[in-house]
Amino acid sequence: MLSKLLSKQVVNQGLRLTTRTLSTASQQKLVDRKPDVKYQKLFINNEFVDALGGSTYEIINPTTGDVITEVADASEKDIDRAVKAAKDAFRLGSEWRRMDPAGRGALLYRLADLIERDRAYLAALETLNNGKPFKDSYNIDIPHCISVLRYYAGWPDKMNGKVLPLGGDFFSYTRREPIGVVGQIIPWNFPMILLCWKIGPSVATGCTSIIKLDEHTPLTGLYTAKLIEEAGFPPVRILLLKRKTSSQIEKSIFLQGVINIVAGDGPHCGASLVKHPDVHKIAFTGSTQVGKIIGVECAKQVKRTTLELGGKSPNIVFADCDLDLAVEMSHFALFFNQGQCCCAGSRTYVDEKIYDEFVQRSVERTKRRKVGDPFDDSTEQGPQISHEQMDKILDLIESGRRNGAKLLTGGERHGDKGFFVQPTLFADVQDNHRIAREEIFGPVMQVLKFKSIEEVVERANDSDYGLAASIFTKDLDKAIVVSNALRAGSVWVNTYDNFDPVAPFGGFKQSGLGREKSEYSLDSYSETKCVTMKISERNS
Ligand code: NAI
Ligand code: MG
Repeated sequence: MLSKLLSKQVVNQGLRLTTRTLSTASQQKLVDRKPDVKYQKLFINNEFVDALGGSTYEIINPTTGDVITEVADASEKDIDRAVKAAKDAFRLGSEWRRMDPAGRGALLYRLADLIERDRAYLAALETLNNGKPFKDSYNIDIPHCISVLRYYAGWPDKMNGKVLPLGGDFFSYTRREPIGVVGQIIPWNFPMILLCWKIGPSVATGCTSIIKLDEHTPLTGLYTAKLIEEAGFPPVRILLLKRKTSSQIEKSIFLQGVINIVAGDGPHCGASLVKHPDVHKIAFTGSTQVGKIIGVECAKQVKRTTLELGGKSPNIVFADCDLDLAVEMSHFALFFNQGQCCCAGSRTYVDEKIYDEFVQRSVERTKRRKVGDPFDDSTEQGPQISHEQMDKILDLIESGRRNGAKLLTGGERHGDKGFFVQPTLFADVQDNHRIAREEIFGPVMQVLKFKSIEEVVERANDSDYGLAASIFTKDLDKAIVVSNALRAGSVWVNTYDNFDPVAPFGGFKQSGLGREKSEYSLDSYSETKCVTMKISERNS
């Protein structure tokens, strides 16, 4: 009972839901296990178009390994088309550039409303394509998208510049201007959430964008393209009515090219977006390996770059913690989303005084983790995204065995259909083991023992990564001192994965550059311009 209550508390604490969650019975009624795939083409200039040359590729259902559908496969030429559309939408005097700031906010509110309207469908499509449990898509991913867009919707008319007290006879002020055409590349672990993290700040600041969806998971993004088209009309129409006659309005082609959404691979399609000279900024979420390549390419053109990359986040459990909470949260920190989280709490450091009990309880919890059909209400863990990812995880598990870590549960593929991996727990992991250093991105928990605060802080910081960290303790002083000492962009104390849109997210060290969500993200989508005028006389 307690663990059931805690599980619920974990999810609520973690992702801070803003929309109601569903009871099992009503949830079952909503589940469409075979949602229709309605959009498979590229969304360029507000139209769904085939890839030039007509090529398509297959989308695989990770639960079964079967083909769901085929989608248009964007090439370098398609990227060129999409960039032209975004560039044109950003030209001086365009509808987009002339729109009132509040109009951009209205557009985001409307898009959030449409996502809310289609929440059950989008959640089902996300589960079909990505394999995450429907109850998570429905109760976590889609509501989070809605709150992120509503958060950003409030910003456009609040991004003030400043009047500056320059010396001499001058008048000077700053303006925050959109960076321009932005290329955004997202991965497959949170297809809808990361799409909305990218749409929010680019629309709020007035940029235009080309979003490259991950090749594995384009389905919800392409459906959202349709919603963007639908959302585009009302706010612009209202604003234009103020200034134009109705015949002029009919002729206007609303919001063409403001957001373009394509599916395609990384090395060709993604890379051509990164290299394109008319793209002023790249926002990338994905592996550190690809992030480094993108960083180098962008540097050649001094292109603005934000990178949200990998992690190996330490989760420190002190002896004075609430042990029930720490066990459940540590489990959630690692296993949520099939372990496919950049900020997964994947090095669990436990105080030697409670180590044995923590390990025993965590093993029991891991054994109870229900793996299976993501559309079943009782399922906690669905498949990994691909055969490739499953193999990578199994290889890392093998290295854990070989290095001498103690495998206490799991360790194998689950079943022989789809890409499932058993919930796995290693105890007595040493800092130099591969499983303690490399991102596994799967349902594999590493438990390490520590003795003192100084020691654990040093070990926690001994990583190339620095995305997130967490602490479980009831001691306020310890919570503050240790969280200050940890080299990570997010530190959670007695909680995990709190993704409120208000809070910035991003990494220290090789976990990335810049911050997503929150007002901090707006800086990386805008340029600061300083205008200085000579005047005849300045007085104080
Ligand atoms: P990836 O980094 O290769 O793919 C992420 C995105 O980057 C995709 O849209 C992909 O098409 C694109 N991409 C790949 N190569 C590119 C290039 N040269 N230029 C431009 N775009 C490119 O990640 P992948 O291969 O799917 O997963 C490998 C590992 O990366 C995972 O095992 C995991 O450790 C990590 N990863 C981290 C994520 C995060 O949230 N930070 C998300 C996904 C994967
Ligand atoms: Mg890759």
